[in-house]
Amino acid sequence: MCGIVGYVGPGSSLEVLMGGLRRLEYRGYDSAGVAVLDDDGELGVRKRAGKLAVLAGELESDGIRDGHTGIGHTRWATHGGPTDGNAHPHLGDDGRLALIHNGIIENFAELKAELADETFTSETDTEIAALLVGRLYRETGDLTEALRRAVARLEGAFTILAMHRDDPGVVVGARRNSPLVIGLGEGENFLGSDVAAFVAYTKRAMEIGQDQIVTIRPDSVEVTDFAGNPVTPTQFEIAWDASAAEKGGWPSFMKKEVSEEPAAVANTLRGRIHDGRVTLPELDAIAEILDGVTRIIVIACGTAAYAGMLGRYAIEAWSRIPIDVELSHEFRYRDPVLDEHTLVVSVSQSGETMDTLRAVQYAREKGARTLAICNTQGATIPRESDAVLYIHAGPEVAVASTKAFVAQVTALYLLGLDLAARRGTLSPERIAELIVELQNVPDKLDDVLDAASSRIAEFTRWLAETQSVIFLGRHVGYPVALEGALKLKEIAYIHAEGFAAGELKHGPIALIEPGQLVIVLVPSPRNDDSLHPKVVSNIQEIRARGARVIAIAEVGDVAVVPFADEVIRIPFAGPFFEPILGVVPLHIFAMEMASAKGLDVDQPRNLAKSVTVE
Ligand code: G6P
Repeated sequence: MCGIVGYVGPGSSLEVLMGGLRRLEYRGYDSAGVAVLDDDGELGVRKRAGKLAVLAGELESDGIRDGHTGIGHTRWATHGGPTDGNAHPHLGDDGRLALIHNGIIENFAELKAELADETFTSETDTEIAALLVGRLYRETGDLTEALRRAVARLEGAFTILAMHRDDPGVVVGARRNSPLVIGLGEGENFLGSDVAAFVAYTKRAMEIGQDQIVTIRPDSVEVTDFAGNPVTPTQFEIAWDASAAEKGGWPSFMKKEVSEEPAAVANTLRGRIHDGRVTLPELDAIAEILDGVTRIIVIACGTAAYAGMLGRYAIEAWSRIPIDVELSHEFRYRDPVLDEHTLVVSVSQSGETMDTLRAVQYAREKGARTLAICNTQGATIPRESDAVLYIHAGPEVAVASTKAFVAQVTALYLLGLDLAARRGTLSPERIAELIVELQNVPDKLDDVLDAASSRIAEFTRWLAETQSVIFLGRHVGYPVALEGALKLKEIAYIHAEGFAAGELKHGPIALIEPGQLVIVLVPSPRNDDSLHPKVVSNIQEIRARGARVIAIAEVGDVAVVPFADEVIRIPFAGPFFEPILGVVPLHIFAMEMASAKGLDVDQPRNLAKSVTVE
């Protein structure tokens, strides 16, 4: 939530800031603003409600002067609605300091009362921080020190960047529980909510830890903790190119990212399979617990939680370790039983979801060991975990997660196979067979994309007026049904619910009336003949009550044909691999429904990709 970028160097601040904000817009897009210090020492600020394009248009027609020190912000409103006045940057009371913020200052009411003699121009918590740092700068004459003293007063989660008219060539930043990374250039330096902010300029980056302050100048980067002690941050190379975060000719990021689902699975597998065995050196740090683990709890939110649910079926079946899956925000409020034999696996594309981060921190406090499954290098959740498995899906920009989902499932399956090998619960031959199935998934996903894309686009044109869609699945089809429903709600704003097909008769069947659209994940008859006929019976039951049925079924499954209005075919795959194929038509379906309604599939209303508030 909220994207942040800072720049010092010889280049054009406006170009760096606006380019960075464009890449960070997935984090929030209800307003945006920039502050730039020009060569005459004037501080220019421009901020506007609406998407970044509104600000960009205004800067073009009636801009501010460019310069070599600047900060920029794209907002997802928390305190105060999305207005010009509430947009960041906010200024100190003398107009000489500009400040941007991501997060929530929880004690803002108390601080506002202390600053009662000030004139407030917004309803934000951020303005309090701007006024505070501005005052402290006057007292100390040192921007880093002013920020340090200010953050000592703040409670909550925040990343703050500030710059001052009297300090050209300096941007300072502080972080607690919200993301911030440093980009290291030649004679220029950058700050950003994530590396996408500056990857067009440099691939060298540094992590900033919890409760740390950074001061960037064109030729130096200094990091200290909140107490002022120097810190040596970890440096890393960004593993992808700037072009990976561009649309590259696709009409939307989501369409591009769905097309990358096969590559996402392949990239998660790359370098991790040797001679029919899974090799995950990343797990060495927790090898001891993996050998003695008695229970696994997967924590995640949204799409990542559905990936976790799929992981449970496979990991439990293969390793025989009991495994629960829980929404991160529920997990830590129910006093779960945790001990040193519990492995808590977090799944998060961004690695910044606050609910998941808090749950990881809670699990560690309670003595559990933690493993992060994450896509974003340098993110907070991996840094706060005992070990991390990166999925290497490449940057995911569209708010609704797609390629990360299939990659997360793949990573969970690798973990399951690794555990099965460690514990001897599967023979090496069986593990080798399952690995081959996993390796075949990318090619099969290519086939699904080829076959499903145009077919779904064709029939969704007739469905754009649909008010409600039900998704049904059994066993591994159930999390896929939930994911299909979530995606449709998120981007097409259509009421949708996913149900376990077996649960239909216990309530949801009352919803079926003539014309109700139902999408059914049909298990392959070749995998387990007890599931297939049951799902076909479920389809008959809803058809008898007038439902319109779209079936996602294996090539050659003729049993569904008489009962379905449409059949989307997927290639045959083993029981645990079938859902990775079945989810892709649902991603396409949601995308096409949103497009048919003329909606922006990349930036759906009210949502943000990285939810860094609780
Ligand atoms: C938000 C996004 C979802 C995403 C969820 C978890 O709600 O809108 O698309 O699945 O966060 O995000 P994470 O980065 O933790 O995977």
